[in-house]
Amino acid sequence: MPSNNNLKLQDNPYLAHRHPTQRDTGSSRSKSLGVKEPLYGFLPRKVNGDQVRRALEHEINPFTEQPHSAQYKEILDARKKLPVYAQMDDFYKMFTNNQIIVVVGETGSGKTTQIPQFIVYSDLPHTKGKIIACTQLRRVAAVSVAKRVADEMDVELGRHVGYSIRFENMTEPGTTLLQYMTDGMLLSEVMNDPNLERYSAIILDEAHERSLATDILMVLLKASAKKRADLKIIVMSATLDALKFQKYFSVRSNEAVPLFKVHGRTFPIEIFYTQEPEPDYVEAAIRTVLMIHRAEAPGDVLLFLTEEEEIEDVCLKIKLEADDLIDQDPDAVGPLTCIPLYSSLPPQQQQRIFDPAPPPRTKGGPLGRKIVVSTNVAETSLTVDGIVYVVDPGFSKQKVYNPRIRVESQLISPISKASAQQRAGRAGRTGPGKCFRLYTEKDFKNELEEQTHPEILKSNLSTAVLTLVKIGVKDLVRFDWMDAPAPETLMRALELLNYLAALDDEGNLTPLGCIMAEFPLDPQLAKMLIVSPEFKCSNEVLTIAAMLSVPNVWLRPNNQRREADAAKALLTIPDGDHLTMLNVYNEYVNNQHDRNWALTHYLSARALAQADNVRKQLERTMERFEMELVSLSDPVKIYQNVRQALVCGFFMQVAHKEGEKGNYLTVKDNQVVALHPSCGMDTQPEWVIFNEFVLTTRPYIRTVTEVRPEWLLEYAPTYFDLSSFLDGETKRALQRVVNKKAGKSNRDTTKDTRARTRKQK
Ligand code: CDP
Ligand code: MG
Repeated sequence: MPSNNNLKLQDNPYLAHRHPTQRDTGSSRSKSLGVKEPLYGFLPRKVNGDQVRRALEHEINPFTEQPHSAQYKEILDARKKLPVYAQMDDFYKMFTNNQIIVVVGETGSGKTTQIPQFIVYSDLPHTKGKIIACTQLRRVAAVSVAKRVADEMDVELGRHVGYSIRFENMTEPGTTLLQYMTDGMLLSEVMNDPNLERYSAIILDEAHERSLATDILMVLLKASAKKRADLKIIVMSATLDALKFQKYFSVRSNEAVPLFKVHGRTFPIEIFYTQEPEPDYVEAAIRTVLMIHRAEAPGDVLLFLTEEEEIEDVCLKIKLEADDLIDQDPDAVGPLTCIPLYSSLPPQQQQRIFDPAPPPRTKGGPLGRKIVVSTNVAETSLTVDGIVYVVDPGFSKQKVYNPRIRVESQLISPISKASAQQRAGRAGRTGPGKCFRLYTEKDFKNELEEQTHPEILKSNLSTAVLTLVKIGVKDLVRFDWMDAPAPETLMRALELLNYLAALDDEGNLTPLGCIMAEFPLDPQLAKMLIVSPEFKCSNEVLTIAAMLSVPNVWLRPNNQRREADAAKALLTIPDGDHLTMLNVYNEYVNNQHDRNWALTHYLSARALAQADNVRKQLERTMERFEMELVSLSDPVKIYQNVRQALVCGFFMQVAHKEGEKGNYLTVKDNQVVALHPSCGMDTQPEWVIFNEFVLTTRPYIRTVTEVRPEWLLEYAPTYFDLSSFLDGETKRALQRVVNKKAGKSNRDTTKDTRARTRKQK
């Protein structure tokens, strides 16, 4: 029967939906090969494991209609070994019969790479025009997994399989079937498409981490599922306590949605603790890695650290010490490569974690070892195969928010027991492993919290609240939160949005707020950009917004600090760091985006190129709202107007100088802070605006620019209403400005009246 094209079409609803030309090419090729179409007999949402396995073994790729490559077959063999692959039949049964499923499974069992593909074969997005989304918490994971899955499906990345992260969209509408994206991107899509009509299935991955955006998406998706019976939702988690999710998504209170459990294989892991607390975890980590390299059997090492700078520094030190070991005795230890992994790393370099360990230097010599030094991204988001040893100092960089003083910062904090267990688990993927915890067993038991707190309980919620109000959520307190945020945090967010005039006094979105929500920026940045055309400096403010949205552009290598600082001084504008950012970008453009120019000035060419890209994207959003791109020609006036626009966005982040010791007091919140050492201003002006509060050896404000108090009173009169200030030096200083202004205008009025009277005479 397959040779009869008409009959086959009727039998096969999948083909009946397809474009005529696609159908023709597909079937004629299959016919010439004498086999059935790869998806012959597939009914959307009614497929089973047998059908899919047959399709996977087929000569032809059903999506590109090209023969499968040799690499495809090789990868398919690897996929077959993943625990989740063996459970394909059960998965399809559960997926067919349920709208919402919770999936749990050990990291590395194949959840992120395989489940979305299973769903592609069930939902057949190319026939229905509705696609599949899988969220990731980290940009680096979204990119890396999309690349892997594109390879597995034998398609080009960015076409049938793509990714979407802030400021970078690698998808092709009409072609893309499966899209990996950060949870933040999906959340911003909800604003314009509340029921996510574009998608037939949404997979929320890494739900156990409870990121802010995923928590909000859970609430919204639960509601959408009630309205759209055809929308499937899969909540995936790497920890086994899934009951909370199962209960949350259940329609009736005593019922839970079904759980799909992936039976992962893990090998035993031996755990070692230190006898005494380590005073310096970085130094201890380096020592432990070298100890493993010298004394332990072959196998790669995964070391968890907290941030980019620390990771790069440690990689360098490990490499130097390992070279020393080899110099001392070339036969004693094998070669070692140290590979960093963190989110802002360029994609090609991220892929290096999958490279094999270096080969022995001589035939029969000691084996090489790969050391991956990573942030938390390797805890559950990315699996590095072949890890036998894990070194866990017990820290990660975590968000901390203090609503009272409105300060959100990233602090290096102890991890939870759940995290420590996940980290240890990375060592037992391919065989028995060892985990070296750089803290005592007593501290593990008594000091570490059981679970990491959901991000919603420790974040500034202003961006999230703006999104929710834009979607039309009226009552944030009675919103169906999985864990409700503190009322004070919600209040602070509403208050900030009200001061920024994004919300009116009743909490309704204003036209300004509506536009602010459309920018992929914090509300303060969005506001500053939206007002900038009024100050005739939107070109400049756009550049500053872009520069503030990318990683730090300044390079400061440990051994060239003096040279780097001198180079920076040449580009510094003494009135403020925001203006310096503007100047750096302009010089970069004047020098034709030249990488070498950037490098000789100790600037990161990659960060600058990113700023360029972000700027273009923000420019497109501005065009959508018909915001003018303008500049003034008078350079002095430009700087002044830019600073005024800054005030319109950041008037709640102002500090006033107290005394002569270089201390500043943040306005209203009264925190004693100092200018960060990276600050380029040559004086200590009385009033400054800052972009960031950082807590290291002491509280600092970073990225700082001088402002005038008159602007604060003029552009933010409600916030700077003096009756709302506590008595103190700041209030007195503002009062003097008010008095001076009043005196001046009184004199002006008197002068005016006199002139008029004289005229009348
Ligand atoms: O999501 P889960 O932790 O359950 O596993 P996964 O991310 O789907 O990874 C399954 C396997 O895919 C890993 O063990 C790797 O062998 C492979 N993989 C890869 O080679 N490259 C990637 N970028 C991601 C996964
Ligand atoms: Mg995963």
